Amino acid sequence: MRTSTRSAGTTAAPVPACQSARAPLEAELFTSPEVHAAEMERVFKGPTWHIVGHVAEFPQDGSYKTHRIGDVPIIVSRSDDGFHVMVNACAHRGAQVVRGSRGVAKAKAAFTCIYHQWIYDAKGCVLGVGRRQGYADDFPLQKYGLQKASVEIVGGLIFASLGTAPPPIREYLGKRICDTIERIYGAPDLKYVGVQRAIFPCNWKLYVENIYDSYHAVTLHKGFRLMSIRKAAPQLEDVSIVRYGHYLTEYEADVPGKVDLDNPEIFEARSRHDGLSSHVICNIFPAAQFSEQLDVVAYRADVPIGPDATEIQFHVLVRDSDTDELRAHRMWQASNFLGPQGLINLEDAAALARVQVSMQGRAGGMDSSGALRFPERRVDEKAIDSFYGAYRRMMQDEPMQESTQ
Ligand code: FES
Ligand SMILES: [Fe+2]
Repeated sequence: MRTSTRSAGTTAAPVPACQSARAPLEAELFTSPEVHAAEMERVFKGPTWHIVGHVAEFPQDGSYKTHRIGDVPIIVSRSDDGFHVMVNACAHRGAQVVRGSRGVAKAKAAFTCIYHQWIYDAKGCVLGVGRRQGYADDFPLQKYGLQKASVEIVGGLIFASLGTAPPPIREYLGKRICDTIERIYGAPDLKYVGVQRAIFPCNWKLYVENIYDSYHAVTLHKGFRLMSIRKAAPQLEDVSIVRYGHYLTEYEADVPGKVDLDNPEIFEARSRHDGLSSHVICNIFPAAQFSEQLDVVAYRADVPIGPDATEIQFHVLVRDSDTDELRAHRMWQASNFLGPQGLINLEDAAALARVQVSMQGRAGGMDSSGALRFPERRVDEKAIDSFYGAYRRMMQDEPMQESTQ
């Protein structure tokens, strides 16, 4: 958004600065409407980048979808000159211009606001207004338009920022994450299948920190325990990952030979032939993930809908070259294992709902004194500290500098 929503001289958000990496997390961070409102301004409309789509979702000029960054409704559209992300609020009196989740707009008059019939093209420029004769002949249509977000594409993933001066996207993501995105999402034969959505009864940060929490992967998740993960070391040596609070981990797992399940092939990675499965999962700060796990290529967008509820969107991609059987297998794993209604996420939802319920009634917050530091071991929680370090720096208007912890 070119117009700043963050006025100069705003006071710090109602979140205490982090005194140390092991400071308790105050319960208010997960329950307070004031903290939530401050997050929408400072984090989601701040100098952050958000995954808002993949180019495969937009097969032709005029293809569009609606989405949200924090609490801001947006339109993502493809036009003859590339991709555009605009706030879904009419330049006239602010009505939502586009309803529905996606479609293909007409080449010129792409979107028409129902209220007074202002007409926009796919770039968000005003082409016409209802009852044009009511305006002066020299009314400057070109001065009006939908508010624009910054847009960048890395390896097929579309990123948008509502901040007035976001860092360059490649600096924000860092080389390691850019290389990983290009490897997975840059393939020209990826095809968008659709999205699964679920509302988790927890604060968005609890969903995100769960990604950084490698400890729980084998304590909570029976599926991952059965797979026997071979190595899972988060990539915290990358400067951008730490500075901006992202998380990237890659690991391999054995496909279990003998599992007491009706359909043990849910664990099979059919795009590999060596009995192993590969897993990559990455959170882009603040709340979007990309992942390639087993045979499922996906990205997630976490949309906060209040302090205690978060919509999880799980967008799935397949390959043009897939056999029907492999594609069905990918979809089965996406729906039943890895997506928001799958086995893994249902376990997460149950655990996170319990944390949220307990936060509602606690004055003290989350005392993480049990979270000792075990470098190089799964129970080490340095990655979670990195997320909350970046979060507090952003909420306190401090520079996004590298953590010293
Ligand atoms: S609010 Fe959209 S045309 Fe008036
Ligand atoms: Fe989990």
